[in-house]
Amino acid sequence: MNENNWRFVKKRTAADGAVYVSADKTRYRRTGGAELQTEAEFQRRIADLGYPVPHVLDEGVTDDGHYYVVEESLGDQTLHERAVASLDGSPDLSDDVVDTAGQVAARLLRAQAAHLVQPTPGTLRQWLESAGFTQNVFQENPDLDNTRTHTALDDALDHLETVPLVWGHLDYGLPNVLSTGVIDWQHHGLVPLGYDIVPALEIIAFKGGNKGYAASPGQRGRYLAVLDNASLNATGHPVSQNLSAYLLVKALFFLALMRPTDPSRTDKHLKWQYRRHLFTKGLEQYERTGTVDTAHFPGLEEFAAGHSTGDHP
Ligand SMILES: Nc1ncnc2c1ncn2[C@@H]1O[C@H](COP(=O)(O)OP(=O)(O)O)[C@@H](O)[C@H]1O
Ligand SMILES: [Mg+2]
Repeated sequence: MNENNWRFVKKRTAADGAVYVSADKTRYRRTGGAELQTEAEFQRRIADLGYPVPHVLDEGVTDDGHYYVVEESLGDQTLHERAVASLDGSPDLSDDVVDTAGQVAARLLRAQAAHLVQPTPGTLRQWLESAGFTQNVFQENPDLDNTRTHTALDDALDHLETVPLVWGHLDYGLPNVLSTGVIDWQHHGLVPLGYDIVPALEIIAFKGGNKGYAASPGQRGRYLAVLDNASLNATGHPVSQNLSAYLLVKALFFLALMRPTDPSRTDKHLKWQYRRHLFTKGLEQYERTGTVDTAHFPGLEEFAAGHSTGDHP
């Protein structure tokens, strides 16, 4: 296809390169470096395993030496876009989006469970370190690199010890889910079964209310029931039993790369402090009750109201 027919969509969030859509919107094209080649190779592999992902249609090198990959479109709207489009004054997600999210997640889970990966010593800890960006989080927040944090994380790892490992997404959430599958596999890696899908509606809370929608406790319960039904059939275990361990790791993930280098950026400073607060709150809940309940997380505005700029160091 003539390159002029590609319309720019956006720069890639966590990598060099960009995303383009074809004039007829049936195909997407990504550009990037060697990591894009790895991503495409991975995507071909999991497509062969029956994962609900776009088929890779073409790949090669552009005139200016970048790598490119073309894949089929999975549709016009991500579930995030659908959630925003269906806002009707209530903060709750539309039930339709919740149900679609459950269906796609159950499909992904079934494909993952059909291709379990033999764990090697240390794989679970490697997952924790990469999924939670622990090196970065402890570097930016040395005060959190303490016995309390490590005791809780060790407990979470113990809890997950018998959970089978599978190839996963590591950036799973409504913005990367469409009604027929899952896009954007740049962060792929080995994960304990359920790590991607189980917390998918809970992680909305980490955005502080800025997405405009939230999942109600009833919706989260309904979503998890669909996943448990699928995982009980596939493995004999309900995946939702790992929600709290996964949320502890997500709380680290959302705290990564948040510390601003420019101290005059009070907006960024506030968001960093907010994510520190959520991590600490989740940790306290986990220590006290063995669970993490995102319903008790404050929104960003609520947090900011109790946290005047004068408090900053
Ligand atoms: N195969 C696809 N089908 C439908 N939409 C897609 C597809 N690939 C990309 N998109 C759209 O392009 C956007 C950006 O692509 P994505 O790979 O998620 O980039 P980023 O890495 O920046 O998140 C997505 O949010 C989605 O709207
Ligand atoms: Mg994306």
